[in-house]
Amino acid sequence: MTDSKKRSRRDFLHLATGTVAGGGAAIASWPFIDSMNPARNVRGSADLEVDLSQIPRGQAITVRWRGKPVFIRHRTSAEVAAARNVNLDTLPDPQKDDQRVEKSKWLVVVGVCSHLGCVPLGNKPSDPRGKWDGWFCACHGSQYDTSGRIRQGPAPYNLEVPPYQFVDDNTIRLGGNAKKKSKKIT
Ligand code: FES
Repeated sequence: MTDSKKRSRRDFLHLATGTVAGGGAAIASWPFIDSMNPARNVRGSADLEVDLSQIPRGQAITVRWRGKPVFIRHRTSAEVAAARNVNLDTLPDPQKDDQRVEKSKWLVVVGVCSHLGCVPLGNKPSDPRGKWDGWFCACHGSQYDTSGRIRQGPAPYNLEVPPYQFVDDNTIRLGGNAKKKSKKIT
């Protein structure tokens, strides 16, 4: 199989594996969200439960929550180690990785670049992820690491961690009374 065919197949797997609780609809990258029915809204329209069980390690999905893309990445051990083995003094917006996650293998961030609001690339397997294997914002070149922290480029802040909590081992709830994990970027 050629590299491009392998890549296409991985993209298809990516499209097919993301699901959210209740609906069972496939969720992939941000452009697809509006045309699908991703949400099981709870407590009105503000909260969203997301089923994590179908997201393979090393892959990510995007869900729409309060009008914004939210990236949910199932991190590998190497990605967690890379996020934790960092000298905080070198970070433009210093923050420990364990301050940004509830469980180390799951990173949940709002997918909006803190520079001028573009949606960074990095969720699809064929996307560029930048030097730090996180996300790359093609608008002006900002690069984020595997904790969603800004490492290079004009963006001043890390990707925001939205309020969320684990409902069970494989489900998170975005919004509501979930504990807020980081400062707002707006
Ligand atoms: Fe992301 Fe400018 S909007 S680098």
